[in-house]
Amino acid sequence: MSVHSAIAPGQVAVITGGANGIGLAVARRLVDLGLRVALADCDAAQLAVAGDALGGKALLVETDVASRASVAALAARVEGELGPVAVLMNNAAIGGGGDILADPAGWDRLLAVNLHGVIHGLQQFLPGMITSDRPGLVINTGSKQGITQPPGNTAYNVAKSGVKSVTEGLAHTLRERVGDRITAHLLIPGFTYTGMTTRHFKEKPPAAWTPDQVAQTMLDGIARGDFYLWCLDNETSWEVDRRRVLWNAQDITEGRPALSRWHPDWKDVFADFASRE
Ligand code: NAI
Repeated sequence: MSVHSAIAPGQVAVITGGANGIGLAVARRLVDLGLRVALADCDAAQLAVAGDALGGKALLVETDVASRASVAALAARVEGELGPVAVLMNNAAIGGGGDILADPAGWDRLLAVNLHGVIHGLQQFLPGMITSDRPGLVINTGSKQGITQPPGNTAYNVAKSGVKSVTEGLAHTLRERVGDRITAHLLIPGFTYTGMTTRHFKEKPPAAWTPDQVAQTMLDGIARGDFYLWCLDNETSWEVDRRRVLWNAQDITEGRPALSRWHPDWKDVFADFASRE
C-alpha cells in the first residue's frame, strides 16, 4: 500500500535542510521510492556530499530559506528542471538563539531560518500545489520544544511554537480549500543524532535515535493519516512525553506559574505526576 498518494514514482519532492540529518534520511527514502528529489540547503559542501550519498539522483540547490528571494529562486529551479512539486518538506533549521537576554542578532537569525524559512517555503510552493489538481503532501519539521517549552533556548521554542501554529493553520486551510487532496503534517522529532547534535557528541549517544528512525516514523504516521508525527527516542517513552504535554497545557487550566515543571515549588509535584501509573 502506498504511504500517501503524493509519494509515487516520478513525483517531485523538495526538502529544505536536505543536505544532512533528518532531511537527508527522508530524501534517501523518497529516492528509493522513485521520487525525483530536490535538496535545498545553505551548506554547499554538505550538499555535494549528500548528492553523492544519493548516487547523483537529487537536484542540489544552494538555498538560504531565511531569504524569500532565495526560496523563490529554489521554486523556479525545481519547477523548471523537475516539474510541479508534490511533496514539500520544510525542515531546515539552526540551533543557537538563547533566552530573551541573549544576542538580538542571534534571535533574528534563528527566527528568520527556523520560522520564516518555513513560511517562505509554504508561500512559495503552496499556491501551485493548490491550483494543480494533483495530490500533495506538506511536512513541516517542528520540535517537542515548541510544545513543552523547556527553558534555556527561548528563541528556538518561539520559532518551533510558530511552526506548530503555522502547520495547524495550514491543515485547516487545506481541509477547507482542497479537502484531503493535499495534507499537512507536523513532524516532531525526539533527540536525534544529526548534524545539529554531532557538534555536542562525537558518537551517537545511546539516548538518541538515528535520522532513519525518524524518517520511518514519519512515513508510518503519514500512512496512518496522522497530523502530529510524534517521534520518540531511546530515553523518553510516549507516556512520559504525553504527561509533559499535558502538564504544560494544565499550567493554564490549573492556574499554575509559567513553566511550573521547572519551578522549585512544583518540580516534585510534576515528578510525581510524570511517574504515576
Ligand atoms: P542538521 O543540522 O543535520 O540538518 C539541518 C540542515 O539545515 C543542515 O544541512 C543545514 O545546513 C540546513 N540549514 C541550516 N540553515 C539553513 C538555511 N538558512 N537555509 C537552508 N538550509 C539550512 O539537523 P537535523 O537535526 O537533521 O534538523 C532537521 C530538523 O529537525 C530541524 O528543523 C530541527 O530543528 C529538527 N529537530 C531536530 C532534533 C534533533 O535532535 N536533531 C530534535 C527536534 C527537532
